[in-house]
Amino acid sequence: MAAVARLSISPRPHPTLPAERGGAISLESDAAEYAQRVIPRDVAGMSAEIRELARKRNAVILAHNYQVPEVQDVADFVGDSLGLSRQAAATSANVIVFCGVHFMAETAVILSPSKRVLIPDLAAGCSLAATINAEQLAAWKAEYPGAIVVSYVNTTAEVKALSDYCCTSGNAERVIRAIPEDKEILFLPDMFLGTYLEKVTGRKMHVWPGECHVHAGIRPADIDRARAEHGDADLLVHPECGCASQCMYFKASGDIDAERTHILSTEGMVRHAKEHPSRSFVVATELGIMHRLAKEAPQGRFYAASEHAICRYMKKITLEKLLTSLRDDVFEVTVPEEVANKARGAIQRMVEL
Ligand code: 13P
Ligand code: SF4
Repeated sequence: MAAVARLSISPRPHPTLPAERGGAISLESDAAEYAQRVIPRDVAGMSAEIRELARKRNAVILAHNYQVPEVQDVADFVGDSLGLSRQAAATSANVIVFCGVHFMAETAVILSPSKRVLIPDLAAGCSLAATINAEQLAAWKAEYPGAIVVSYVNTTAEVKALSDYCCTSGNAERVIRAIPEDKEILFLPDMFLGTYLEKVTGRKMHVWPGECHVHAGIRPADIDRARAEHGDADLLVHPECGCASQCMYFKASGDIDAERTHILSTEGMVRHAKEHPSRSFVVATELGIMHRLAKEAPQGRFYAASEHAICRYMKKITLEKLLTSLRDDVFEVTVPEEVANKARGAIQRMVEL
């Protein structure tokens, strides 16, 4: 299976890659479109209606850190993939409205099978999750019998069902360290996170050559420019970024202040900014996080590593669609029971670690 090899090969071009990498998505035009989006005129009125509907239906609204500001502001919980999975597993609500992308809502279904899980727009997919399906994983596993499969949470339920462990950017390192040394590891689907993990843990793994079009689009040159413009800023880098390996290298070589370079999940970024409230920060991830950073660390100064880092899938969810979702009970996310039962073990291990 030639396409599944070490990181040195290029991933197969697919339509979700940015245009400059052979795909059909232009991050520039997505960012331009987002900049021109129409914010609802009556945010306060709609938010009040959403809160009232959520109360009546005993619904909890979970929002990922990349959601538009008005959706974050109306949610019960805002967080990263790991935090939201934990909320979904622990909630006593009857309904979970997931303002995030489809694989996150599927994870909530698997963790809370008795709840009704809604997503306000079914088109909220994920370019990274789309890089591997169950057939491809089955073929890869057949090449390495006995290997432990670690899937990043950005995967479909079918892929998780074929995995031993699931991880997020918030606990991936701990998951890899927990696997006995004598076991081979198949890590999927993010090659930048996989390479980063190999470096920090010293563990050799087989890494699937997948990538998120937004984070892959944040290039080493963006970091070079940001460092030149904001030399005194802390560098906060998501491990899915195309520049994550470069930052690791800079850190190790002493070229940048190791103390001020941090490779973090989105929640880790918020935590770090709150712990150092009056610093400036260069932020290398999807730009939805800026709202939460500004809200929770108001004295901080935040600069985007790339102004084009907008995820078209996360931005599918709007306040209007959230209102419709709660009012009309749409769109229910389901996972076949057999798949959910197989995937649950890997996800529970992730939540517990
Ligand atoms: P986090 O788990 O760090 O929030 O990342 C989720 C994601 O989709 C990154 O693109
Ligand atoms: Fe998927 Fe990337 Fe969007 Fe995260 S930012 S949801 S990994 S496409």
